[in-house]
Amino acid sequence: MFKTRLTELLGVEYPIIGGAMAYLSTAELAAAISNAGGFGLIAGVTCNNKDELREQIRTCRSLTDKPFGVNIALITRDPNRVNEDLEVVVEEKVKFVETAALNPAPYVKQLKEAGITVLHKCATVRHAKSAERVGVDAVTLVGYEAAGHTGLDDLPLSIMIPLAVDSLEIPVISAGGVSDGRAFVSALALGASGVQIGTRLMASHECPASETFKDWLIRTEATDTVYIERSLNRAYRVRRNEATEKVLELEKKGTTMLELLPFIGGDNLRKVLFEGDVEAGVVACGPVAGLIDDVMSVKEIIDRIISQAEIIIERLQFS
Ligand SMILES: Cc1cc2nc3c(=O)[nH]c(=O)nc-3n(C[C@H](O)[C@H](O)[C@H](O)COP(=O)(O)O)c2cc1C
Repeated sequence: MFKTRLTELLGVEYPIIGGAMAYLSTAELAAAISNAGGFGLIAGVTCNNKDELREQIRTCRSLTDKPFGVNIALITRDPNRVNEDLEVVVEEKVKFVETAALNPAPYVKQLKEAGITVLHKCATVRHAKSAERVGVDAVTLVGYEAAGHTGLDDLPLSIMIPLAVDSLEIPVISAGGVSDGRAFVSALALGASGVQIGTRLMASHECPASETFKDWLIRTEATDTVYIERSLNRAYRVRRNEATEKVLELEKKGTTMLELLPFIGGDNLRKVLFEGDVEAGVVACGPVAGLIDDVMSVKEIIDRIISQAEIIIERLQFS
Protein backbone atom coordinates (compact mmCIF):
# COMPACT_ATOMS: atom_id res chain seq x y z
CA MET A 1 0.00 0.00 0.00
CA PHE A 2 2.85 2.40 0.69
CA LYS A 3 4.92 1.97 -2.45
CA THR A 4 6.01 5.44 -3.53
CA ARG A 5 8.71 6.97 -5.70
CA LEU A 6 10.84 7.03 -2.57
CA THR A 7 10.52 3.32 -1.77
CA GLU A 8 11.45 2.70 -5.40
CA LEU A 9 14.45 5.04 -5.30
CA LEU A 10 15.80 3.58 -2.06
CA GLY A 11 14.69 -0.02 -2.56
CA VAL A 12 12.92 -0.16 0.82
CA GLU A 13 9.57 -1.47 2.01
CA TYR A 14 8.21 1.67 3.68
CA PRO A 15 8.72 5.35 2.79
CA ILE A 16 10.14 6.11 6.23
CA ILE A 17 13.65 7.51 6.72
CA GLY A 18 15.27 7.62 10.13
CA GLY A 19 16.63 11.17 10.22
CA ALA A 20 20.29 11.55 11.11
CA MET A 21 20.69 12.60 14.74
CA ALA A 22 24.10 13.71 15.95
CA TYR A 23 25.53 11.23 18.50
CA LEU A 24 22.48 8.95 18.22
CA SER A 25 22.33 7.80 14.61
CA THR A 26 24.93 5.12 14.96
CA ALA A 27 25.34 2.07 12.76
CA GLU A 28 23.17 0.11 15.22
CA LEU A 29 20.23 2.53 15.09
CA ALA A 30 20.52 2.94 11.31
CA ALA A 31 20.58 -0.83 10.81
CA ALA A 32 17.55 -1.31 13.08
CA ILE A 33 15.58 1.19 10.97
CA SER A 34 16.60 -0.50 7.73
CA ASN A 35 15.85 -3.97 9.13
CA ALA A 36 12.36 -2.73 10.09
CA GLY A 37 11.64 -1.84 6.46
CA GLY A 38 12.57 1.85 6.67
CA PHE A 39 15.78 3.56 5.63
CA GLY A 40 18.48 4.19 8.23
CA LEU A 41 21.05 6.97 8.05
CA ILE A 42 24.36 7.10 9.88
CA ALA A 43 25.17 10.62 11.13
CA GLY A 44 28.61 11.29 9.68
CA VAL A 45 28.98 14.38 11.84
CA THR A 46 29.26 12.26 14.98
CA CYS A 47 32.32 10.37 13.79
CA ASN A 48 35.51 11.99 15.03
CA ASN A 49 37.46 11.15 11.90
CA LYS A 50 37.17 9.34 8.61
CA ASP A 51 38.29 6.01 10.08
CA GLU A 52 35.43 6.11 12.57
CA LEU A 53 33.01 6.76 9.74
CA ARG A 54 34.47 3.85 7.79
CA GLU A 55 34.00 1.62 10.81
CA GLN A 56 30.39 2.77 11.27
CA ILE A 57 29.63 1.96 7.64
CA ARG A 58 31.19 -1.49 7.96
CA THR A 59 29.34 -2.17 11.23
CA CYS A 60 26.05 -1.14 9.67
CA ARG A 61 26.70 -3.44 6.73
CA SER A 62 27.39 -6.30 9.16
CA LEU A 63 24.03 -5.68 10.87
CA THR A 64 21.79 -5.36 7.83
CA ASP A 65 21.66 -6.43 4.23
CA LYS A 66 19.02 -3.73 3.60
CA PRO A 67 19.74 -0.32 2.07
CA PHE A 68 21.08 2.43 4.35
CA GLY A 69 22.84 5.75 3.84
CA VAL A 70 25.20 8.29 5.37
CA ASN A 71 24.20 11.85 6.28
CA ILE A 72 26.92 14.36 5.54
CA ALA A 73 26.42 17.76 7.14
CA LEU A 74 28.02 20.24 4.77
CA ILE A 75 28.69 22.49 7.73
CA THR A 76 31.22 20.97 10.10
CA ARG A 77 33.78 22.71 12.20
CA ASP A 78 36.63 21.43 10.05
CA PRO A 79 35.97 22.00 6.32
CA ASN A 80 38.31 19.12 5.34
CA ARG A 81 36.01 16.69 7.08
CA VAL A 82 33.34 16.96 4.38
CA ASN A 83 35.82 15.94 1.69
CA GLU A 84 37.25 13.15 3.83
CA ASP A 85 33.78 11.80 4.65
CA LEU A 86 32.86 11.86 0.97
CA GLU A 87 36.05 9.98 0.08
CA VAL A 88 35.14 7.30 2.62
CA VAL A 89 31.57 6.85 1.37
CA VAL A 90 32.88 6.45 -2.17
CA GLU A 91 35.63 4.03 -1.12
CA GLU A 92 33.19 1.99 0.97
CA LYS A 93 30.72 1.90 -1.93
CA VAL A 94 27.88 3.37 0.12
CA LYS A 95 24.92 3.61 -2.24
CA PHE A 96 23.05 6.53 -0.64
CA VAL A 97 24.16 9.86 0.77
CA GLU A 98 22.04 12.57 2.31
CA THR A 99 23.75 15.94 2.21
CA ALA A 100 22.41 18.61 4.55
CA ALA A 101 22.57 22.28 5.37
CA LEU A 102 24.51 24.02 2.58
CA ASN A 103 24.19 23.94 -1.22
CA PRO A 104 25.26 20.44 -2.34
CA ALA A 105 26.37 21.71 -5.80
CA PRO A 106 30.13 21.23 -5.25
CA TYR A 107 29.65 17.55 -4.32
CA VAL A 108 26.82 16.17 -6.44
CA LYS A 109 28.88 15.45 -9.58
CA GLN A 110 31.51 13.48 -7.65
CA LEU A 111 28.84 11.46 -5.82
CA LYS A 112 26.77 10.74 -8.92
CA GLU A 113 29.87 9.68 -10.85
CA ALA A 114 30.51 7.16 -8.09
CA GLY A 115 27.00 5.78 -8.67
CA ILE A 116 25.64 7.19 -5.41
CA THR A 117 22.01 8.26 -5.07
CA VAL A 118 21.99 11.71 -3.48
CA LEU A 119 19.28 13.03 -1.22
CA HIS A 120 19.54 16.60 -0.01
CA LYS A 121 18.00 17.95 3.15
CA CYS A 122 17.05 21.60 3.41
CA ALA A 123 14.52 23.87 5.07
CA THR A 124 13.15 26.00 2.24
CA VAL A 125 11.46 25.25 -1.07
CA ARG A 126 13.91 27.70 -2.67
CA HIS A 127 16.86 25.57 -1.58
CA ALA A 128 15.06 22.39 -2.64
CA LYS A 129 14.70 23.84 -6.13
CA SER A 130 18.41 24.68 -6.36
CA ALA A 131 19.26 21.17 -5.16
CA GLU A 132 17.06 19.72 -7.88
CA ARG A 133 18.77 21.94 -10.47
CA VAL A 134 22.21 20.59 -9.52
CA GLY A 135 21.02 17.01 -9.90
CA VAL A 136 20.08 15.50 -6.53
CA ASP A 137 17.66 12.57 -6.69
CA ALA A 138 15.27 13.59 -3.90
CA VAL A 139 14.90 16.35 -1.34
CA THR A 140 14.00 16.21 2.32
CA LEU A 141 12.17 19.32 3.44
CA VAL A 142 12.45 20.18 7.11
CA GLY A 143 9.38 21.95 8.42
CA TYR A 144 8.71 24.28 11.31
CA GLU A 145 7.44 21.18 13.18
CA ALA A 146 10.82 19.46 13.14
CA ALA A 147 13.58 19.10 15.69
CA GLY A 148 16.87 20.80 14.96
CA HIS A 149 17.69 23.49 12.42
CA THR A 150 14.47 24.34 10.63
CA GLY A 151 15.46 27.40 8.61
CA LEU A 152 14.04 30.90 8.83
CA ASP A 153 10.91 30.59 6.71
CA ASP A 154 8.94 29.23 9.69
CA LEU A 155 6.55 27.40 7.40
CA PRO A 156 4.70 24.31 8.51
CA LEU A 157 4.88 21.23 6.31
CA SER A 158 1.17 21.57 5.48
CA ILE A 159 2.24 24.57 3.36
CA MET A 160 5.79 23.63 2.38
CA ILE A 161 5.13 20.15 1.02
CA PRO A 162 2.38 21.19 -1.43
CA LEU A 163 4.52 24.15 -2.53
CA ALA A 164 7.47 21.83 -3.09
CA VAL A 165 5.64 19.06 -4.93
CA ASP A 166 4.01 21.64 -7.20
CA SER A 167 7.36 23.02 -8.26
CA LEU A 168 9.74 20.02 -8.21
CA GLU A 169 9.96 16.90 -10.34
CA ILE A 170 11.98 14.80 -7.89
CA PRO A 171 10.47 13.05 -4.85
CA VAL A 172 9.95 15.21 -1.78
CA ILE A 173 10.32 13.85 1.75
CA SER A 174 8.56 15.51 4.65
CA ALA A 175 10.66 15.91 7.83
CA GLY A 176 8.97 16.87 11.05
CA GLY A 177 6.20 15.91 13.41
CA VAL A 178 5.74 12.21 12.64
CA SER A 179 5.31 9.80 15.52
CA ASP A 180 2.30 7.81 14.37
CA GLY A 181 0.19 6.78 11.40
CA ARG A 182 -1.84 9.99 11.40
CA ALA A 183 1.04 12.31 10.59
CA PHE A 184 2.49 9.74 8.17
CA VAL A 185 -0.74 9.59 6.14
CA SER A 186 -1.09 13.35 6.27
CA ALA A 187 2.42 13.82 4.80
CA LEU A 188 1.58 11.42 1.97
CA ALA A 189 -1.76 13.20 1.44
CA LEU A 190 0.11 16.48 1.04
CA GLY A 191 2.11 14.92 -1.78
CA ALA A 192 5.28 13.80 -0.01
CA SER A 193 6.82 10.55 -1.25
CA GLY A 194 7.84 9.70 2.30
CA VAL A 195 8.68 11.00 5.73
CA GLN A 196 11.79 11.50 7.78
CA ILE A 197 11.50 10.86 11.51
CA GLY A 198 13.83 12.02 14.29
CA THR A 199 12.31 12.70 17.72
CA ARG A 200 10.10 9.55 17.83
CA LEU A 201 13.13 7.35 17.18
CA MET A 202 14.97 8.78 20.19
CA ALA A 203 12.40 6.90 22.30
CA SER A 204 13.42 3.53 20.89
CA HIS A 205 15.32 0.70 22.55
CA GLU A 206 17.99 0.86 19.85
CA CYS A 207 18.66 4.57 20.36
CA PRO A 208 21.89 4.73 22.36
CA ALA A 209 20.68 7.53 24.69
CA SER A 210 20.35 6.74 28.41
CA GLU A 211 17.11 5.59 30.03
CA THR A 212 17.07 8.87 32.00
CA PHE A 213 17.08 10.79 28.76
CA LYS A 214 14.32 8.62 27.27
CA ASP A 215 12.17 9.09 30.42
CA TRP A 216 12.66 12.84 30.13
CA LEU A 217 11.66 12.71 26.47
CA ILE A 218 8.48 10.79 27.27
CA ARG A 219 7.57 13.36 29.92
CA THR A 220 8.11 16.19 27.44
CA GLU A 221 4.98 18.17 26.53
CA ALA A 222 4.38 19.53 23.05
CA THR A 223 4.95 23.04 24.46
CA ASP A 224 8.36 22.19 25.96
CA THR A 225 10.45 22.97 22.90
CA VAL A 226 11.95 26.38 22.18
CA TYR A 227 13.90 28.06 19.43
CA ILE A 228 17.45 29.24 20.06
CA GLU A 229 20.01 30.95 17.76
CA ARG A 230 17.35 33.31 16.35
CA SER A 231 19.54 36.32 17.21
CA LEU A 232 22.23 34.79 14.99
CA ASN A 233 19.92 34.35 12.03
CA ARG A 234 19.47 30.66 12.59
CA ALA A 235 16.59 28.71 14.06
CA TYR A 236 17.33 25.67 16.20
CA ARG A 237 14.37 23.87 17.76
CA VAL A 238 15.44 22.23 21.01
CA ARG A 239 14.08 20.87 24.32
CA ARG A 240 13.71 23.67 26.86
CA ASN A 241 16.03 23.18 29.87
CA GLU A 242 18.53 25.10 32.01
CA ALA A 243 21.03 25.24 29.14
CA THR A 244 18.49 26.78 26.75
CA GLU A 245 17.61 29.39 29.41
CA LYS A 246 21.29 30.38 29.62
CA VAL A 247 21.57 30.49 25.84
CA LEU A 248 18.48 32.67 25.52
CA GLU A 249 19.82 35.03 28.19
CA LEU A 250 23.10 35.38 26.27
CA GLU A 251 21.14 35.95 23.08
CA LYS A 252 19.15 38.75 24.72
CA LYS A 253 22.41 40.54 25.55
CA GLY A 254 23.94 39.85 22.14
CA THR A 255 26.21 36.88 21.62
CA THR A 256 28.21 34.91 19.06
CA MET A 257 28.03 31.33 17.85
CA LEU A 258 31.44 30.77 19.38
CA GLU A 259 30.13 31.75 22.81
CA LEU A 260 27.13 29.42 22.41
CA LEU A 261 29.06 26.39 21.20
CA PRO A 262 29.91 25.00 24.66
CA PHE A 263 26.17 24.75 25.39
CA ILE A 264 25.30 23.24 22.06
CA GLY A 265 27.57 20.34 21.23
CA GLY A 266 30.36 18.19 22.54
CA ASP A 267 30.67 17.31 26.20
CA ASN A 268 27.48 18.99 27.41
CA LEU A 269 25.35 17.30 24.78
CA ARG A 270 26.93 13.98 25.69
CA LYS A 271 26.00 14.62 29.35
CA VAL A 272 22.37 15.17 28.33
CA LEU A 273 22.17 12.14 26.08
CA PHE A 274 24.27 9.58 27.89
CA GLU A 275 25.04 10.67 31.45
CA GLY A 276 21.62 11.48 32.84
CA ASP A 277 22.25 15.23 33.23
CA VAL A 278 19.40 16.47 31.08
CA GLU A 279 19.95 20.13 32.03
CA ALA A 280 23.62 20.26 31.02
CA GLY A 281 23.37 21.13 27.34
CA VAL A 282 21.13 21.85 24.40
CA VAL A 283 19.44 18.95 22.60
CA ALA A 284 17.33 19.05 19.45
CA CYS A 285 13.74 17.94 20.01
CA GLY A 286 10.48 18.37 18.13
CA PRO A 287 7.09 19.22 19.67
CA VAL A 288 5.95 15.78 18.51
CA ALA A 289 7.60 14.65 21.75
CA GLY A 290 4.28 15.62 23.34
CA LEU A 291 2.69 12.68 21.51
CA ILE A 292 5.27 10.12 22.58
CA ASP A 293 4.59 8.16 25.73
CA ASP A 294 6.46 4.91 25.38
CA VAL A 295 9.85 3.48 24.51
CA MET A 296 9.53 0.73 21.93
CA SER A 297 11.76 -1.12 19.54
CA VAL A 298 12.33 0.57 16.18
CA LYS A 299 10.41 -2.26 14.53
CA GLU A 300 7.43 -1.75 16.84
CA ILE A 301 7.46 1.99 16.10
CA ILE A 302 7.52 1.47 12.34
CA ASP A 303 5.02 -1.41 12.37
CA ARG A 304 2.63 0.67 14.45
CA ILE A 305 2.89 3.67 12.11
CA ILE A 306 2.14 1.41 9.16
CA SER A 307 -0.78 -0.45 10.76
CA GLN A 308 -2.34 2.81 11.98
CA ALA A 309 -1.89 4.28 8.50
CA GLU A 310 -3.61 1.29 6.89
CA ILE A 311 -6.61 1.70 9.19
CA ILE A 312 -6.77 5.46 8.57
CA ILE A 313 -6.70 5.00 4.82
CA GLU A 314 -9.43 2.41 4.95
CA ARG A 315 -11.55 4.68 7.15
CA LEU A 316 -11.03 7.64 4.80
CA GLN A 317 -12.29 5.57 1.88
CA PHE A 318 -15.54 4.83 3.66
CA SER A 319 -16.27 8.13 5.39
C1 LIG B 1 18.67 14.83 18.79
C2 LIG B 1 18.57 15.20 17.33
C3 LIG B 1 19.73 15.44 16.62
C4 LIG B 1 19.67 15.77 15.27
N1 LIG B 1 20.83 15.94 14.58
C5 LIG B 1 20.79 16.17 13.24
C6 LIG B 1 21.98 16.23 12.47
O1 LIG B 1 23.08 16.09 13.00
N2 LIG B 1 21.88 16.47 11.15
C7 LIG B 1 20.66 16.61 10.53
O2 LIG B 1 20.62 16.80 9.31
N3 LIG B 1 19.51 16.56 11.22
C8 LIG B 1 19.54 16.33 12.55
N4 LIG B 1 18.38 16.21 13.26
C9 LIG B 1 17.07 16.33 12.56
C10 LIG B 1 16.52 14.94 12.18
O3 LIG B 1 17.37 14.30 11.27
C11 LIG B 1 15.12 15.02 11.53
O4 LIG B 1 15.17 15.69 10.30
C12 LIG B 1 14.11 15.71 12.44
O5 LIG B 1 14.27 15.26 13.75
C13 LIG B 1 12.68 15.43 11.95
O6 LIG B 1 11.76 16.03 12.80
P1 LIG B 1 11.05 15.26 14.05
O7 LIG B 1 12.03 15.27 15.13
O8 LIG B 1 9.84 16.07 14.32
O9 LIG B 1 10.72 13.86 13.57
C14 LIG B 1 18.40 15.88 14.62
C15 LIG B 1 17.24 15.65 15.36
C16 LIG B 1 17.30 15.30 16.70
C17 LIG B 1 16.03 15.03 17.45
